[in-house]
Amino acid sequence: MPPTVSVAVKEPIQTSTSTVTAPQNESLFEHVAWLYAFCRERLFRDDTERIITALWPNGSAASGTLVIELGCGPGFYSAQLAKRFPNISVTGVDRSENQLTWARERASALGLRNCCFARVNVLNLPFTDAQFDVLIASRLFTILPDRARAVAEMYRVLKPGGRCFIAEPRYTIWASIPLFAMWLLASMTHSGNGYREPRKATVFSAIGFERIFSSQPWKRVKTWQDGRYQYALCEKD
Ligand SMILES: C[S@@+](CC[C@H](N)C(=O)[O-])C[C@H]1O[C@@H](n2cnc3c(N)ncnc32)[C@H](O)[C@@H]1O
Repeated sequence: MPPTVSVAVKEPIQTSTSTVTAPQNESLFEHVAWLYAFCRERLFRDDTERIITALWPNGSAASGTLVIELGCGPGFYSAQLAKRFPNISVTGVDRSENQLTWARERASALGLRNCCFARVNVLNLPFTDAQFDVLIASRLFTILPDRARAVAEMYRVLKPGGRCFIAEPRYTIWASIPLFAMWLLASMTHSGNGYREPRKATVFSAIGFERIFSSQPWKRVKTWQDGRYQYALCEKD
């Protein structure tokens, strides 16, 4: 059985600028969780093979490797990696409880015992320094207000020699479609004062994507584009 990771979740969840005391239902990812899960499952590119090739080029992961996925949403990649490598341990974190419910159900349906999920703010990770071997994040920056802070947290929780793989959409229009659909459905089915997510996704230019990682002293950073997506593979010294 791979080692497990303990998560000391602090409440209320802190952001860099404020304390989130508002009820969870102010997030689209809570209100219309199923719609995002559907988009993730049926519409978005599946980068599982790309992630595996980048992080484990020889196709095998060392036993006991600790992986964390930031902003895991419905747990698509956490579950895929845990399924592919039963000897590793994957922790998916997200601030949306309903996304985590989807993630847990997915892991349970697949009978995974090396995968767990926790409600955590990626801008203030409740993990000690240098805890993980590998970190992944997909489509996280598009809706995140403080990207440099997120990269600093990524760097901090990785062990020396640890690696992270980031996948982000390149085009605002494509990246905004799920948000638009979620806003529309949420405003038709719920009454409220709006949601914390932006109406439009923010995407990086190729230069901006490279620059965001230069805020930390990585040993190596490689970024590349492939169709509608861009990727980064970073290695900590
Ligand atoms: C666009 S979804 C990406 C989900 C998944 N990684 C994927 O590839 O589809 C972004 C996720 O990040 C989560 N999120 C946004 N801000 C967060 C924060 N500060 N801390 C933790 N999770 C956050 C949202 O709840 C949502 O599930």
